[in-house]
Amino acid sequence: MKAVAVTPGTPNSVHLKDIPMPSLDKYPNGKGVLVKVLKVGVDATDKEINDALYGNSPPGDDHLVLGHESFGIVEEVGPNVTKVKKGDYVTATVRRPGGSIYDQIGTYDMTSEETYYERGINLLHGYMTEYFVDEEDYIVKIPPGLKHLHVLMEPMSCAAKAVQQAFEVQRRMKVWRPKVAWVMGAGQIGLLSTLTLKLRGLQVYTIARSPAPSLKAEITEGMEATYISTKERSLEDLVAETGKPDIIVEATGSSVIAFESMKYLGLNGVLVLTSITGSDTKHELPTDKINIEWVLGNKLLLGSVNANSEHFEAGIKDLALGDVMFPNVIQKILTNPVDGLDNYQELIRLLVEEKSALKVYMNVADE
Ligand SMILES: NC(=O)c1ccc[n+]([C@@H]2O[C@H](COP(=O)([O-])OP(=O)(O)OC[C@H]3O[C@@H](n4cnc5c(N)ncnc54)[C@H](OP(=O)(O)O)[C@@H]3O)[C@@H](O)[C@H]2O)c1
Repeated sequence: MKAVAVTPGTPNSVHLKDIPMPSLDKYPNGKGVLVKVLKVGVDATDKEINDALYGNSPPGDDHLVLGHESFGIVEEVGPNVTKVKKGDYVTATVRRPGGSIYDQIGTYDMTSEETYYERGINLLHGYMTEYFVDEEDYIVKIPPGLKHLHVLMEPMSCAAKAVQQAFEVQRRMKVWRPKVAWVMGAGQIGLLSTLTLKLRGLQVYTIARSPAPSLKAEITEGMEATYISTKERSLEDLVAETGKPDIIVEATGSSVIAFESMKYLGLNGVLVLTSITGSDTKHELPTDKINIEWVLGNKLLLGSVNANSEHFEAGIKDLALGDVMFPNVIQKILTNPVDGLDNYQELIRLLVEEKSALKVYMNVADE
């Protein structure tokens, strides 16, 4: 069967490859699930893998099948599978357990090991192919009423985890009633974080560079959040109007913005960093001022990456509620489809060149 793969270590090596059809025999415990792939999304990580900045083949292979944002339909299940059945829509988590205690209790997104096992990213093949098999524990059921949001399940799981972690650590406050949230960035992660914060009842300001009107502003306002362009309004002005935020979720891809955000967080607040920043940027900051404000203000800095199946399930619930509360809004994130695995070059071109794209994805097959 066809798969879209790269040769790790070789820049721009994306190619079509013929790989064997997977089989449930891989899971003699009877817990295997065979999934027919319908759609696969791509993001900045796929671009970096094709740029040979990241990613490794599974041991013994010279290629890595791309794709970590999956949407498919169950084709066949092993005899001991109880969570899903043939015909269910599903996605699959990305990371697989290593050996740490966190891996062993199902929180593999919090592994304490340096080596990550991630499908389509590192040491494990991904989903950009016709069929894949995986163990039931890593398969997450999607309600049929959400199939129009298909490849958003994985990015939503990361946003859901980031916000859930913030609320979890803020239990240190005994009573935490956050009112104002800032989301730095209006890409897919920023917009999905906006959604999950809105559903928790916060007043959300979603901040990006480009002035409105734009699709990003339209989606933000469609979720009853406020879109702010830094080209039109300074963050100091925003603080003067709304006070300092109780929570900031940073998702711009810029470490400069991540650290600049420290200037704006309110007392007892939490700043969640999600951007993956692979280069070597240096930036000057008023460190004494920030330090004393953070110490005297009991503020907290939190990094968040990846997600386990609980975050996928929480994210799916947020997408379901969000889709009811803000009809026809979330699906606008799904901007750029490409038809068929043969069209992988167009997929990569859109990912690299189409600056207005929010989500580029491949329609792999019909049901
Ligand atoms: N931690 C995790 O689990 C996880 C998971 C997936 C992705 N990520 C990372 O999350 C980050 C965001 O991903 P994405 O796909 O949502 O990114 P994206 O589509 O590139 O969106 C970035 C957004 O940030 C805004 N932005 C960039 N620089 C800015 C600046 N200097 N000031 C204000 N706004 C700025 C952009 O504004 P404009 O719209 O005006 O250009 C855009 O709205 C990336 O680093 C990605 O690798 C993390």
